[in-house]
Amino acid sequence: MTVGSDKIDYVFKVVLIGDSAVGKSQILARFARNEFSLDSKATIGVEFQTRTLVIQHKSVKAQIWDTAGQERYRAVTSAYYRGAVGALMVYDITRRQSFDHISRWLEELRNHADRNIVIMLVGNKTDLEDQRAVTTEDAREFAQKENLFFLETSALEATNVENAFQTVLTEIF
Ligand code: GTP
Ligand code: MG
Repeated sequence: MTVGSDKIDYVFKVVLIGDSAVGKSQILARFARNEFSLDSKATIGVEFQTRTLVIQHKSVKAQIWDTAGQERYRAVTSAYYRGAVGALMVYDITRRQSFDHISRWLEELRNHADRNIVIMLVGNKTDLEDQRAVTTEDAREFAQKENLFFLETSALEATNVENAFQTVLTEIF
């Protein structure tokens, strides 16, 4: 595939999932455009953004899909997961419920996505350490048990966002 003079070697679809307001859209804004907004609106339906990066000397176009955490705003589930080779499953470290729901998101992922999909568990909003409600240890233990990659991020401070996508994309590779 050729875009202008830039050769694209691979296109990888990666999906974002997790409860409403955990920061999926802001993680994507940070990764795709290096932007962040504190008054982000809830996503309705499905949106996606792309960013091309070089991994192991190959040009990889990451196509990141973002949907609503709220059930009533979600689009058709099977279409969302179709062709996805990676997933970021996000919770908010200040909201215990968003972590407790991760097992449901994982079940949905395992029911709808390819069985070889690379999954990263992401605890977002580490800039709010004083409001933390989920310990790093609890999350790490869950990730180990379920065979997931795990990182804590802050879309606000741009901590580990790049790392999370890089890890998933490199693993897919
Ligand atoms: P839905 O689209 O409803 O599923 O929500 P979402 O997961 O896309 O959440 P969104 O990215 O819209 O962020 C929700 C709120 O959390 C917004 O006010 C964001 O500004 C805020 N937020 C996102 N990431 C961070 C972060 O790393 N730190 C802090 N402090 N706030 C964040
Ligand atoms: Mg959103």
